[in-house]
Amino acid sequence: MSRTMVAGNWKMNTTPTQGTALVKEVMNKVPNPPTKVVFGVPAIQLLAVQKLVSGHANYAVAAQNMHQEEKGAYTGETSAEMLVDAGIEYVILGHSERRDYDGEDDELINRKIIRALEAGLKPIYCCGEKLDIREANNQEVVVGKQIEQAFSSLSPEQVAQIVIAYEPVWAIGTGVTASKEQAQGMHDYIRRMIANQFGSEVAKGMTILYGGSVKPDNAEELFAEPDVDGGLVGGASLDAENFAAIIRAIK
Ligand code: G3P
Repeated sequence: MSRTMVAGNWKMNTTPTQGTALVKEVMNKVPNPPTKVVFGVPAIQLLAVQKLVSGHANYAVAAQNMHQEEKGAYTGETSAEMLVDAGIEYVILGHSERRDYDGEDDELINRKIIRALEAGLKPIYCCGEKLDIREANNQEVVVGKQIEQAFSSLSPEQVAQIVIAYEPVWAIGTGVTASKEQAQGMHDYIRRMIANQFGSEVAKGMTILYGGSVKPDNAEELFAEPDVDGGLVGGASLDAENFAAIIRAIK
């Protein structure tokens, strides 16, 4: 079973008209992708994009967030059940922008992960250190704590459903990509941590994506690293040719 994946995180970009055109263009450029390709789209576009990918084994859709409660008086929120009913397979959780702008912490993300798994969604869990932590060489401590808190009380079977995206915050949207050595170093650390806490089988099968200024000119060397299973792509996923080139970088 391949553990590779390329996921796009459109963030708050593209109108529904633009998004539909983008998905069609990517699927036309790469009709039979060598890996799982996930479109992480704004909530308003989930149904339309799911309709476009439905029935294609290697294309899927991710929501960019969901609420931690099952249902109720939470104006403006979307529940896991709503996403599952819409045919959505994945949900991005813990993105650094939601941590920074919406005050999300790993205790809340843990609740969202549990809710997502209960409903049958596959979380794409984002973690990563800020620049000051990297400069102090404390990235393993910080990312280790994020994962420990976010995955607390989960069973090995539950953790096996999760995709981890290591996204050094200093590389997100900056054009400053982590080196392949930096990416492999953290992915190896994360995989060893998962093996210690949840068993070697879970760790071996886990998809660990790198995110942070993945581009067509750096994707191949990043993805060639033994523990880098693909990418979570922001800006470059908004251009069909760039995203197609990154998908093709999975060998
Ligand atoms: O979630 C992926 C995103 O944070 C990376 O953004 O633009 O650096 O590829 P970008």
